[in-house]
Amino acid sequence: VPALPDPGALLAWYDRHQRRLPWRAPSGLRQDPYRVFLSEIMLQQTTVVTVAPYYDAFLRRWPDVEALADAPLEEVLSAWAGLGYYARARNLHACAKAVCERHGGQFPADEEALLALPGIGPYTAAAIAAIAFERRAAPVDGNWERVVARLFAVADPLPKARAKLRVLALTLLPRARYGDFAQAMMDLGATICTPRKPACALCPWQSPCAARALGAPERYPVKAAK
Ligand code: ADE
Repeated sequence: VPALPDPGALLAWYDRHQRRLPWRAPSGLRQDPYRVFLSEIMLQQTTVVTVAPYYDAFLRRWPDVEALADAPLEEVLSAWAGLGYYARARNLHACAKAVCERHGGQFPADEEALLALPGIGPYTAAAIAAIAFERRAAPVDGNWERVVARLFAVADPLPKARAKLRVLALTLLPRARYGDFAQAMMDLGATICTPRKPACALCPWQSPCAARALGAPERYPVKAAK
């Protein structure tokens, strides 16, 4: 039986190789929940390269959640122009208002309470809980799913495999550094464990990876026939 992947090996890799992205706090510091919220909403369906200048512009114009809540919706929508999926901008604004009205301008730290806010789904709730509040939470996105499907050579096809991938993802969590771990999974998926031609030789988890042992990392995750 191969050893379980060691979360410490991924965190050590992240310490050396993480992408420097504008919404990340200097290492060892927690990130402002508003910044995590803003970046995670923007990063849904949009790449890091496209998001970066918008993130900086929003932060300059609306530096905190009260400023965003007080902005006219029309201004938020026009600043969003070019990012697409405008429902996200409406939700962003509605959520900022709800944080101010229901929580006195402080984002709640619990995944449950975050989930109750408008526009915040399970992924975003887990991302804010882990990255801003160091809660034990797993924001499982497509990157996480691909990494986990390969590590364990999950043969069930997506989307049916999703629940199983989530359970397996939870077994990987470290005992601390949940925010770094979440972002390390994203970086591993974006830079090493890529959909095509993964760079297994550079991967901190090459030895416990079942898909690599089978010689076929690219076959995972398996997708249901269309
Ligand atoms: N995609 C979604 N959230 C991200 C983050 N925090 N860092 C990099 N890519 C992401």
